[in-house]
Amino acid sequence: MIEIVKLVINGKEHILPVIEGSEGEKAIDIRGLRQETGYITFDPGFGNTGTCRSAITYMDGEKGILRYRGFPIEQLAEHSTFVETAFLLITGELPTRKELTRTSVYLNDFSPLHENMKAFYQNYPPKAHPMGILSAMVNAMRSFYPELIDLEEEMNTTYLRLISKIRTMAAMAYRISQGERVVYPRSDLCYCANFLNMMFDNVVVPYKIDSDLVRALNVFWILHADHEQNCSTTAVRVVGSGKVNIYSTISAGISALWGPLHGGANQAVVNMLEKIYSDGFTVKECLSKAKDKNDPFRLYGFGHRVYKTYDPRAKIMKKICDIALSKMKRKDPLLEIAKRLEDAALNDSYFKEKNLYPNVDFYSGILLRAMGIPVNMFTVMFAIGRLPGWISQWKEDVADPEMRISRPRQIYSGSQKRDYIPIKDRGQSVKQ
Ligand code: ACO
Repeated sequence: MIEIVKLVINGKEHILPVIEGSEGEKAIDIRGLRQETGYITFDPGFGNTGTCRSAITYMDGEKGILRYRGFPIEQLAEHSTFVETAFLLITGELPTRKELTRTSVYLNDFSPLHENMKAFYQNYPPKAHPMGILSAMVNAMRSFYPELIDLEEEMNTTYLRLISKIRTMAAMAYRISQGERVVYPRSDLCYCANFLNMMFDNVVVPYKIDSDLVRALNVFWILHADHEQNCSTTAVRVVGSGKVNIYSTISAGISALWGPLHGGANQAVVNMLEKIYSDGFTVKECLSKAKDKNDPFRLYGFGHRVYKTYDPRAKIMKKICDIALSKMKRKDPLLEIAKRLEDAALNDSYFKEKNLYPNVDFYSGILLRAMGIPVNMFTVMFAIGRLPGWISQWKEDVADPEMRISRPRQIYSGSQKRDYIPIKDRGQSVKQ
């Protein structure tokens, strides 16, 4: 049966076409609405607006489903590596052994930074947030690697260069912020082990690579690799729609990810748990602050625009946290507090009524702490993981014949037309 949507405005009927996705999702196509009726739609935060057709990630927020290119996140987290998942997202298919080897070779070859780029780091103030440094460095790559992208090439060297160098740039930002010497990438190490080594190797105590931590980091980055049209990905698509180069577009995505309502939530969660641990702030107080409409505090790591049930990534993250901590024979009091907080929130009528469940950020900070990653690097870790998603979404967008420059409309609510008043006639302003 062909579905028809009728819109009646002042007694006049307008037929609107319906678009259906491969998993049965439906959308009313309003592209001709303004021209035909003079009306636009109003949807702050784009909660009900589809801005593109996408074949990358499927999520069902009611059922807690997440799939990359059709593969369930649970299977990828169990069997895949971050590099393989990145290849899958960008090209649409899992790599053959030969393709995976070639990808790893490129990732190794591209890992060192241009010597002149290193000079930038020295001029940042000592406590500069690594997220700001990272977005500036990625933007600067446009000047150092200006080659054009051949969109015919599936796994273009520009994508590989970005994925490889972001890891070096992130580790370098951390080392310099600590006043420590920079550790260069090693070609004998895989992507995740290389990152951990660049972060933590030391002349006095050489870093010992732990295969459990390497696996945990792979899973952490797989879980963050894409999440369809979220805030930072939308920033990437909007900026990219103006035909901006890929480096500047990704840099915009990194900036969008920084905020505590999005990628910065993992840092906010750990700050919140630490406050409960050290300041005598109780779980009960935390929940009542989160519920108080006059208090800007939120229960960080809870709630999601799309998931109205448990975020499937949070389930995996919680499991990985438990495994990583027990293998390392370490106890983290924050994990115990997080579990108590989760139990209390899941049994609280406010959170139940609003369908607020833990999201990926609720447990991710605890896993990062277990790896020794400092809190101000948490959002940077998220950015490294999300990079393959941003690249795939950008690639899909620029190749899509339906895409136009992003340019939403608005409902103007300011003053109506009025005449200019010469300064001598304006009287005393109340605002000084
Ligand atoms: N704590 C307390 N109340 C909350 C929370 C929370 N974490 N999240 C939502 N609510 C309440 C809101 O106050 C609102 O209440 P109201 O209907 O009485 O006004 C209702 O639930 C709906 O919330 P919105 O903010 O309208 O939902 P939205 O979809 O716009 O926001 C968001 C989603 C930003 C994730 C929100 O849940 C939030 O701020 N969570 C905390 C921050 C966080 O964890 N962010 C990470 C998200 S995952 C990611 O980006 C990787």
